[in-house]
Amino acid sequence: MAEFALPANSKIGVGETYKAPAGAKNIRTFKVYRWTPEDGKNPKVDTYEVDMDTCGPMVLDALIKIKNEIDSSLTFRRSCREGVCGSCAMNIDGTNTLACTKFIDEVKGDIKIYPLPHMPVVRDLVPDLNVPYAQLTSIEPWLKSSTQPPTRERLQSPEERAKLDGLWECILCFCCSTSCPSYWWNGERYLGPAILLQAYRWIADSRDEAKGERLDNLEDPFRLYRCHTIMNCTKTCPKSLNPAKAIAEIKKLMVERTI
Ligand code: SF4
Ligand code: SF4
Ligand code: FES
Repeated sequence: MAEFALPANSKIGVGETYKAPAGAKNIRTFKVYRWTPEDGKNPKVDTYEVDMDTCGPMVLDALIKIKNEIDSSLTFRRSCREGVCGSCAMNIDGTNTLACTKFIDEVKGDIKIYPLPHMPVVRDLVPDLNVPYAQLTSIEPWLKSSTQPPTRERLQSPEERAKLDGLWECILCFCCSTSCPSYWWNGERYLGPAILLQAYRWIADSRDEAKGERLDNLEDPFRLYRCHTIMNCTKTCPKSLNPAKAIAEIKKLMVERTI
């Protein structure tokens, strides 16, 4: 396996190397992006050798071990450790995914870990998600009904409920949006696949009574139509969802309502 090397013109420096303890026989090497805003320096990549005989199998296990035993300054988000909170999303071995569900053994050679791409970085592996969360607020992700107050539960047939499968499972990790070239270039104006999948989740809900209003809110050359069906979003989703299909469904509804 070739030695890890940054391009000659990279502004990312080579950082510290932390060797494994003497006697460790089963070592994997992690190359981790580091950046601290207040030190005024360019980012760097630190190297951590981890003894796999005393480490769990997931990339998140290694990051936690590094933080606990080698370098407490390493900063990353995590919560559930089982792929349901979305907070440990990062770029591992060139792919956006969840550190807690990514097996270290799936990566050959050095394990390179960067924050989600094309997002401002708060520190180390923590991206600034203020823009996507503001975009989430803009699609009003809750059930809207004008028949208030309800006199009974809002019922759905099994068929109506099935239309939400593949949508409700989204954990808002933003692996998809941060792998989408259209979102990289127009992230302030294009909603991106994660938010559009959320938008479709409410449009597709038989109990929601604001479908027209929701479509009006998306009818915009940037908010919806910057998707060019590149499909990176669907390829990368760690929950095996299909945001590109959800976007296509919204576009279809836009056409249908003009006919
Ligand atoms: S299909 Fe659309 S949303 Fe998905 S990566 Fe491509 S442009 Fe982005
Ligand atoms: S669609 Fe998949 S990749 Fe995108 S935010 Fe939801 S779970 Fe994450
Ligand atoms: S820690 Fe919750 S998804 Fe990874």
